[in-house]
Amino acid sequence: MVSDDADFFRRLVRQQAPEYLWIGCSDSRVPANDIVGLDPGELFVHRNVANLAPPQDANYLSVLQFAVAVLKVKHILVVGHYGCGGVKAAVDGKRRGLVDHWLHPIREVCNEHHAELEALPQGGPRLDRLCELNVIRQVRNVASDLFLQDAWGRGQPVSVHGWVYSLANGLVNDLNVTVSSLAELNGRG
Ligand code: CO
Repeated sequence: MVSDDADFFRRLVRQQAPEYLWIGCSDSRVPANDIVGLDPGELFVHRNVANLAPPQDANYLSVLQFAVAVLKVKHILVVGHYGCGGVKAAVDGKRRGLVDHWLHPIREVCNEHHAELEALPQGGPRLDRLCELNVIRQVRNVASDLFLQDAWGRGQPVSVHGWVYSLANGLVNDLNVTVSSLAELNGRG
């Protein structure tokens, strides 16, 4: 870094001012900064198994509050990935222990979209759609959080986006479920 940009670390150590918050899966094949091509200092990152944004999780909520209220990020990227082992584990009926409880919200999404998922071929296509539906749900969790509502209430611009990354080709699929206001969240945007 220093050979390319002598001031890089001197600049970085002074402050972080990222415009983006990434909420993604812990999967080692989904490296946040690399996928969006951002340098250290440009992306605030929260990762957990199956990229969940559970409304009672203190870890995620602390990250969200800091990112929105203090860093004032402009975009929140909820990024799932096709072939997610967490999503698969949520619905394969095997017992693994604590993680089965963590993955409970995915089983709820699965139940709510039972008919749509049943109509798809078992295995890959069905799981990939569940990865998308999970992201859509997590976008809703983030956008409906009081931290976001407070930000919009004081006129602070911040958008929540839903993406799914493909391990197979390195491309991001934008699910076009972006929410940028309370009116959009309520379907009046
Ligand atoms: Co995953």
